[in-house]
Amino acid sequence: MLSDAVDVIEPPQNSVMIGTGKGGVGKSTIAAHKAAWHAARGERTLLICVTSQDDDDLGIERFGRGIRPEGPSVLNGQGLYRSIHDRTPLLPVREVRPNLDVIPGGEAVGELLTLLTARMPVEGAQVVSALSRALAPIAPWYDQVVIDSAPEQDSLEQLALTAARWLFVPTRSDDTSIRGMRRIARNYKLVRQQMNPYLQVAGACLYGSNPSATQLHEEVRQEVFKELGPNTPMTGLVVGYREMPAVNARKKGLTFGEYAAMLPTSAKSYDVAAGRAARADVVPDSIRPLAHEMDLLNVEIDALCRKAPAS
Ligand SMILES: Nc1ncnc2c1ncn2[C@@H]1O[C@H](COP(=O)(O)OP(=O)(O)OP(=O)(O)O)[C@@H](O)[C@H]1O
Ligand SMILES: [Mg+2]
Repeated sequence: MLSDAVDVIEPPQNSVMIGTGKGGVGKSTIAAHKAAWHAARGERTLLICVTSQDDDDLGIERFGRGIRPEGPSVLNGQGLYRSIHDRTPLLPVREVRPNLDVIPGGEAVGELLTLLTARMPVEGAQVVSALSRALAPIAPWYDQVVIDSAPEQDSLEQLALTAARWLFVPTRSDDTSIRGMRRIARNYKLVRQQMNPYLQVAGACLYGSNPSATQLHEEVRQEVFKELGPNTPMTGLVVGYREMPAVNARKKGLTFGEYAAMLPTSAKSYDVAAGRAARADVVPDSIRPLAHEMDLLNVEIDALCRKAPAS
C-alpha cells in the first residue's frame, strides 16, 4: 500500500481558490464575479467550478453562452470528471464572455469522490494533485485562474487547494459559517504541508451582511483571526445582503454589473400594475449598490492576492 513520494506541481501564478467549508456563503457568486471582473479588464481568465451544484451564474447551460469544445459534453461537471478520470488536459467552454473560459461544475463532480478514493491505495496523497495535473498544460494560456469549490467535502477542497496559489475565504456571520472556516483552515494546512508549499491565504471577507452591523462584523473578524491566523487580511468592504437582485441576476445568467446595466431600460412596477410587463422583467434598483460593492470587493481581493505575506 505504499506510494511514491509526492511530486509538487507549482500552481499558476495568479490562481485563487474561493473556499470555505460551509455551503451557501457566496463562494460561487464571488468566484464567477471575480472571473468576470478580470476578463472584463482584458485578462485571459479561466474559471474552474469544482462543485457538484452548478449554479450557472454566467448562463452557460441555460442561455447557451460560450463555445463548447468538440466531442462529448463538458457541461454538468462531465468535462472536469473526464479530464481527471482520463488524465487529460482540461477542456473549457471558451469565450463565455470575452476573455473568459469556464470548466463547468455539476453533478459529475460528485463522482470524483469515488474515483479519488479508488486511486488512494496506489497513489496515496498524490491523488489530490489530479486537478493540478489537468490544469498545468492549459494554464500558460491564462493570466488568471479562479477556482470555485464545494463545501463539506474534504477531498474536493483538497483537490482545489492543491491547484491554487491563493485561498480566499468568504464567510457569513453565523456559527456554522465560522465552523466552515475551521474545516478549510485544516485542509489548507494539510495541503500546504504535504502537496502545495506555494499555497497562501490571501484573506477573508464577510459576505452578505448588513453593512451597518459593525459590532457583529468585529466579532466575525476575531473569529477569522482565530481560525485562519492572526495575520489574515480581511477586506474592509462587506457586500450587503440583497437577496432579490442576487437571485434574479443568477436566474438570468448575468453578473450583477450586467444586470445593473439593464436598469435604464427595465420595465417598472407601474408597467406590471398596468399589465404591460411581468414582475420578472423589473430589474430591482438594489442591483446597483450590489454591483458596485461586488466591484469594490474584487478590487480588494485582487490587491490581497498581489501582496499577501507568506504565512
Ligand atoms: N449579496 C447577496 N445577498 C443575498 N443573497 C445573495 C448574495 N449574493 C449571493 N446570494 C445568493 O445566496 C445564495 C448562496 O450563494 P452562492 O451559491 O454563491 O453560495 P455558495 O457558497 O457557493 O453555496 P454552495 O456552498 O451551495 O455552493 C444564492 O442563492 C445566491 O444567489
Ligand atoms: Mg457554490
